[in-house]
Amino acid sequence: MTTYQEFIQQNEDRDGVRFSWNLWPSSRLEATRLVVPVSCLFTPLKERPDLPPVQYEPVLCSRANCKAVLNPLCQVDFRAKIWACNFCFQRNPFPPSYAGISEVNQPAELMPQFSTIEYIVQRGPPTPLIFLYVVDTCLEEEDLQALKESLQMSLSLLPPNALVGLITFGRMVQVHELSCEGIAKSYVFRGTKDLTSKQIQEMLGLSKATPQGQQGRPMAPQDAASTCRFLQPVHRVDMNLTDLLGELQRDPWPVPQGKRPLRSTGVALSVAVGLLEGTFPNTGARVMLFIGGPPTQGPGMVVGDELKTPIRSWHDIQKDNARHLKKATKYYEALANRSAVNGHSIDIYACALDQTGLLEMKCLSNLTGGHIVMGDSFNTSLFKQTFQRVFSKDFNGDFRMAFGGVLEVKTSRELKICGAIGPCVSLHAKGSCVSENEMGIGGTTQWKVCSLNPSTTLGLFFEVVNQHNAPIPQGGRGAIQFVTQYQHSNTQRRIRVTTIARNWADAQSQIQHIESSFDQEAAAVLMARLGVFRAESEEGPDVLRWLDRQLIRLCQKFGQFNKDDPTSFRLSESLSLYLSSCSTCGGHPSCKFLTIVPMSRLITDTTLSDRT
Ligand SMILES: *[C@@H]1O[C@H](CO)[C@@H](O)[C@H](O)[C@H]1NC(C)=O
Ligand SMILES: *[C@@H]1O[C@H](CO)[C@@H](O)[C@H](O)[C@H]1NC(C)=O
Ligand SMILES: *[C@@H]1O[C@H](CO)[C@@H](O)[C@H](O)[C@H]1NC(C)=O
Ligand SMILES: *[C@@H]1O[C@H](CO)[C@@H](O)[C@H](O)[C@H]1NC(C)=O
Ligand SMILES: [Zn+2]
Repeated sequence: MTTYQEFIQQNEDRDGVRFSWNLWPSSRLEATRLVVPVSCLFTPLKERPDLPPVQYEPVLCSRANCKAVLNPLCQVDFRAKIWACNFCFQRNPFPPSYAGISEVNQPAELMPQFSTIEYIVQRGPPTPLIFLYVVDTCLEEEDLQALKESLQMSLSLLPPNALVGLITFGRMVQVHELSCEGIAKSYVFRGTKDLTSKQIQEMLGLSKATPQGQQGRPMAPQDAASTCRFLQPVHRVDMNLTDLLGELQRDPWPVPQGKRPLRSTGVALSVAVGLLEGTFPNTGARVMLFIGGPPTQGPGMVVGDELKTPIRSWHDIQKDNARHLKKATKYYEALANRSAVNGHSIDIYACALDQTGLLEMKCLSNLTGGHIVMGDSFNTSLFKQTFQRVFSKDFNGDFRMAFGGVLEVKTSRELKICGAIGPCVSLHAKGSCVSENEMGIGGTTQWKVCSLNPSTTLGLFFEVVNQHNAPIPQGGRGAIQFVTQYQHSNTQRRIRVTTIARNWADAQSQIQHIESSFDQEAAAVLMARLGVFRAESEEGPDVLRWLDRQLIRLCQKFGQFNKDDPTSFRLSESLSLYLSSCSTCGGHPSCKFLTIVPMSRLITDTTLSDRT
């Protein structure tokens, strides 16, 4: 017999899934009494060296509002060549290509070991990966030198057919034309003026102004590839781009005494986003922003250039006295939104001893699945090694990065989806399995995940909707299907499908079974994500009290103790870590860390006397 520990490990290895509870409470009421929601951590692209992808299309349930993918949990009638969907019970004929199936000749997706399966599918022409470097030139000489070397090195790590582009900025923003002959040209933008996407595309000559007069339409990717002078295949321009990077100088505008350099980060990003929007909408792309200080002019500025005016402090923010904060945040949020819609992700590499305005800019990465790397200087092994790891490869020699992900979640009838927390945005896909009770980014069954790597993990929260007096038949199981469509780094379109099921349990008669199915590591991470999400969205400091209450309620539910005797308090092994003392202080009563609940308080807390 396997222990829950082994079960949890096997499921994580095979499906990239870890649930807070591995037995599910069979009614809504019982589920809320368990305090920690039925929820899971899901790693869509969990590395599976033992899982060769199949080269055909997934078979979908024919019911229009279901479209679940055929999976090992479906009932199959091999003689009649019919399968019953395990989500909506629709009976579906197999497609003609499955005519030869039988008990002894089953397609992979019906075998239990393929609860996770990956399909390579044909969807339009293959799309190259795109890397757009956006480089701050207001750096110290040492930093600029080191950064140039790292960027040159990175060219050798990119796949030869990837497209690459370069934007540099200081007081002005320069978009560099990359051609392999003639004189290197660049387009210059003022750093103070906000431009619309259309204006940027017109100024760069990207709108399709053919002699026939078709104006302003974005180019189809294949046209763009041949005509876009700003994004060129690495193999064609790497020599020239290496030279170009080598010749990069610090921003030539003099910086007077008592001033900060004028840094047009906002316009530079706007140009980058507009360029990609006009040329490669809905194609995987990575904007890589390298900055050595805060934006100091134009839209998105975080602090003025007068050194005597310090950058906003924590106190300024708390007192709502940070002059540029809201405007800048909103500016970057709008850019992040546009970028996410097009599946373009934005990394921020911020290296400086002083602040760089990450607070205002973080949504750029948060919403698009980009990396945020913070360091003291570009001339440090921290930056250099981290940057190199962005281009690391997997066991197949493919990049550990994927783009344009869309995650869809389907549930069996007793469950609904409350929301997701992770580097994603809602696709606002309504459906019968959407819960009204939102946790995280909710109200949808689909999320866009612009950029994914094998460790990208989302927290997903569910609600048990089965009513208390509507028992689930003995041995019934709840099921969830995760369907992740994405662009693989080798440019293939792929769909990964994971279908899992867990048993229902009656929380009154089987509470001990449910307790021992608790995955306390997963639960701690999921509750921490919920706490952070709440803190950032609505509640602020109240979140500490919320977390305290959750912990106290859990102890009430599962702890064994004699009233007014703190030393008698006991928790079973499956909860011992979840409520263990803080790792920094070892459990000091005044510790403010979230995981500690002083046991003495728990036992004497008045709320405990309400225990029923
Ligand atoms: C980077 O740092 C190393 C070690 O601290 C130093 O030897 C080197 O000169 C620095 N690079 C530049 C460009 O200053
Ligand atoms: C690109 O490199 C080639 C050969 O090294 C050189 O002839 C050409 O002038 C370069 N072009 C630019 C724009 O630097
Ligand atoms: C970004 O998108 C979200 C969700 O669609 C929306 O609520 C928000 O107002 C947008 N922000 C800006 C600045 O456009
Ligand atoms: C990340 O984005 C989500 C919404 O997509 C938002 O609720 C959350 O506060 C953001 N976190 C940060 C660190 O910006
Ligand atoms: Zn169905």
